[in-house]
Amino acid sequence: MELELDKIQLELLDEIINGLSQKQKMLPSKLFYDEKGSKLFDLICELDEYYPTRTESMIMKNNIDDIVSVFKENTIFIEFGSGSSMKTRLLLDNLNNLSAYIPIDISEDHLFKTTERLIEEYPGLEIIPISADYTKPYILPEIHKKVKHKITYFPGSTIGNFKNDEAKAFLKLIAETCGREGGLLIGIDLHKDKDIIEAAYNDKENVTAEFNLNLLERLNREYGADFEISKFSHLAFYNEDEKRIEMHLISEVEQTVTINERKFYFKKSETILTEYSHKYTFSGFAELAEDYFEISKIWIDKNKYFSVLYLSVK
Ligand code: AVJ
Repeated sequence: MELELDKIQLELLDEIINGLSQKQKMLPSKLFYDEKGSKLFDLICELDEYYPTRTESMIMKNNIDDIVSVFKENTIFIEFGSGSSMKTRLLLDNLNNLSAYIPIDISEDHLFKTTERLIEEYPGLEIIPISADYTKPYILPEIHKKVKHKITYFPGSTIGNFKNDEAKAFLKLIAETCGREGGLLIGIDLHKDKDIIEAAYNDKENVTAEFNLNLLERLNREYGADFEISKFSHLAFYNEDEKRIEMHLISEVEQTVTINERKFYFKKSETILTEYSHKYTFSGFAELAEDYFEISKIWIDKNKYFSVLYLSVK
C-alpha cells in the first residue's frame, strides 16, 4: 500500500517504528488525539470516575479572580494541547486585556473547528491557532498588539504524560519561549489513594479502553498497519513506586503485525506501553521544575486531588 503522509505524520511514523522496536514496545501518547480520539477524550472528561477535569475546572472557577491577577497588561496567552479549549473559556471570559491567544494543538481539524467558534465568541481578541507538535520547538507568530509578557497554559496534567527527563526538557522549552517576566499556568494531578486513580483509567463504560484501542485503529487507518483490534485489550494500573498510571495494550495471543513493510512480533501477553500519567507531590513537582521556574502560586481542591500552579520563569 502506498502511503501519502504529511510532515507531521512522517515524523510520527518514525516514532511509531522506533517505539515498536524497543524491548518494551511503546507508542507515543500524542497519537491518541486524532479526530475520534479527541472526541473520546472529551467523553472521558465527563465520566464519573475521571476526576481530574472536573476537579481542575472547579479549582479554576473557585479561584478565578486570583488566577487572572497573575496576568499583567500586554500579555500573550499560549495554550499547549488546547483541544476543545473548555477550561480556557473561563479564563478568556475573565481576561479582557490579552494581546493575543495562541492555541497550539496537534489535532488540526479539532483545533480549527474550535478556533472558528472562539473567534465568534471573542470578537475583540486576536486568536492565532498553530497546528503543531508542541514537544518540538516552534516559532511564535507576529502579534499586532504590544507584547510584554508571555504566559503559557498547560492544563489537564498533560505534563504527566512525559517521562521525568522529557518533562524537564519540555519545561525548559516553555521557559525559553516565555522568557523573563513570563510564566506557566499548569494543572497537575496529585498523588493519592491508588483505588481512586486506577478507577479513573478503568471506567465502567470502557470509554478509556476504546480511547486506548483507537491508537491501533489509527495505525491501521493512517499508516496502513494490520492490527487485529480484537486481539488486544486495555490495561491500566498505578505504579506506586514511580507514582504513575501506566496504560498498555496487551496482546491476547502470539501474533505478528505489519506496518509500512516492517513486521513486529508479539508474544502472548506482551504489551505496548501507550501512556504514562504521572501523579505528583508538591515537592516532587517543584524539584522537576526548579532549574527553570519557581512556584509563585498554588491553588487546590478540598480533597487535594489536583492542583493548579503559577510558575514564574527564573
Ligand atoms: C490528557 C494526559 C491528562 O493522563 O489523565 C485520560 C489522558 N488517558 N485517560 C491523563 C488520559 C486516559 C489524560 N491527559
